[in-house]
Amino acid sequence: MSHQTVIVLDFGGQYNQLIARRVRECGVYCEVKPYTTPMEQIRAMNPIGIIFTGGPNSVYDPKSPQADPAVFTWGIPILGICYGCQLLAHNLGGRVTAAQDDSAREYGKTQTYFDTGCKLFRGLPETGVTWMSHGDYMEKVPAGFTLAAHSDNCPNVAIADEARGFYGVQYHPEVNHTQHGTDMIRNFLYEVCGAKGDWTMGDYKETAIRQIREKVGDGKVLLALSGGVDSSVAAALVAEAVGNQLTCVFVDHGLMRLNEGDEVEAAFAKWDINFVRANAEDLFLSKLSGVSEPEKKRKIIGEEFIRVFEAEAKKIGQVDYLVQGTIYPDVIESGAGDAAVIKSHHNVGGLPDYVDFKEIIEPLRMLFKDEVRQLGRELDLPEYLVMRQPFPGPGLAIRVIGDITKEKLDTLRLADFIFRDEVAKAHLEGTMNQYFAVLTNMRSVGVMGDGRTYDYTLALRSVTTTDFMTADWTRIPYEVLDKISVRIVNEVPHINRIVYDITSKPPATIEWE
Ligand code: XMP
Repeated sequence: MSHQTVIVLDFGGQYNQLIARRVRECGVYCEVKPYTTPMEQIRAMNPIGIIFTGGPNSVYDPKSPQADPAVFTWGIPILGICYGCQLLAHNLGGRVTAAQDDSAREYGKTQTYFDTGCKLFRGLPETGVTWMSHGDYMEKVPAGFTLAAHSDNCPNVAIADEARGFYGVQYHPEVNHTQHGTDMIRNFLYEVCGAKGDWTMGDYKETAIRQIREKVGDGKVLLALSGGVDSSVAAALVAEAVGNQLTCVFVDHGLMRLNEGDEVEAAFAKWDINFVRANAEDLFLSKLSGVSEPEKKRKIIGEEFIRVFEAEAKKIGQVDYLVQGTIYPDVIESGAGDAAVIKSHHNVGGLPDYVDFKEIIEPLRMLFKDEVRQLGRELDLPEYLVMRQPFPGPGLAIRVIGDITKEKLDTLRLADFIFRDEVAKAHLEGTMNQYFAVLTNMRSVGVMGDGRTYDYTLALRSVTTTDFMTADWTRIPYEVLDKISVRIVNEVPHINRIVYDITSKPPATIEWE
């Protein structure tokens, strides 16, 4: 690839992915590498700058992770963040010690004053809030460094050796709590490292298409399309590269939302690819008949999915390549940037090992989720596909509580559609990361017209979250909830009561089953 690269050297901090994302948001390609990566390997990547991340250790601890000293004499600009800053100081003649009292230990939002004459803070306001989280402090700043920012408690929040291009900040510029954090990173990239801003999704698309063509030659490629963002974008990219050498298998288990299967199929109609929609609704519903235990439902769906996929793959015959929609956070979290490819396919939809293929292609392996969405737009995928909220593999089967029937699924589909429709009309999508309806197995008495009803209770669920590991319930305005409730009970047969789920995760989970 021809673009400039910045290396984020990972010392175990919790925000390392965020640092890389910020760099890429600034239009500069960036990769996260473990601090143990041999210096020759890093030099071979020809980076324009290096960022040392934070980390939980103390630099003066003999067992703490250390940088290869060669990095300090190579002549490459370095930005050290938190632990990374202390690492710079420790290695270049400064002294870092444990804070003896609370005034030197800093945590949380801190008013900070910047020297805007320093390249790092050029063009930024002279003061702003930064996010601190450190128990050690720099007792002595190394020779050659000047102080470039301070707080009320700490004289050396940032240090700079402009001649060598070495900078260190005690705070975390990558987190949202820090004001102008991304601007500071941009200054490091453009003012110090000489970045040109050559990382664009348009370029990425062209390069990826060329590479896929070179690799695949005239071979056959198979992809399991779920309708989710990652597999859809991977499919669109490979379709653009190799057209009808690609077969997309879309297993329609009948547990999708309203019109979802048709929408996915329509989105791929413009490419000359082999699109197989395996209509397996009857099969799935018969296997699920009478099953009400959530884990059993999941197991049945997982197994049948693989069986259907396998049967379709067999019909296609010899397949050379399997495409997976693995994205960069999966790669970083697996702890090894160069993990064996054969392992990675287990984490995407649990696809079988026994499809006979030579190699796996992972064209999104280096992209963050927001970049995947951008790439989808470059490939002209419709916005509703690109911005799709997460949808669980078992689909609506885990949103119909208790046993599943086609009628219940249809009821839920319509109610869920109305919920989403009203959210869109109220322009609330940006505040809700995942939202859906759940058909409970509880019935209650109602009155409609002059008659008594005895029908189902529908629950609405919406959460606000970034990582989906913890989540807060969304404060949907009452008037929007009211509209949704009125519409659903009027338009959807067999629902006479609506409740809104106001539990966060934990203790609840996002899905009900
Ligand atoms: P929970 O309910 O555990 O869900 O709070 C966290 C996130 O994971 C999604 N989810 C799934 N995704 N297969 C998936 O692909 C599944 O079996 C599954 N179960 C839950 C859920 O929608 C939420 O985004």
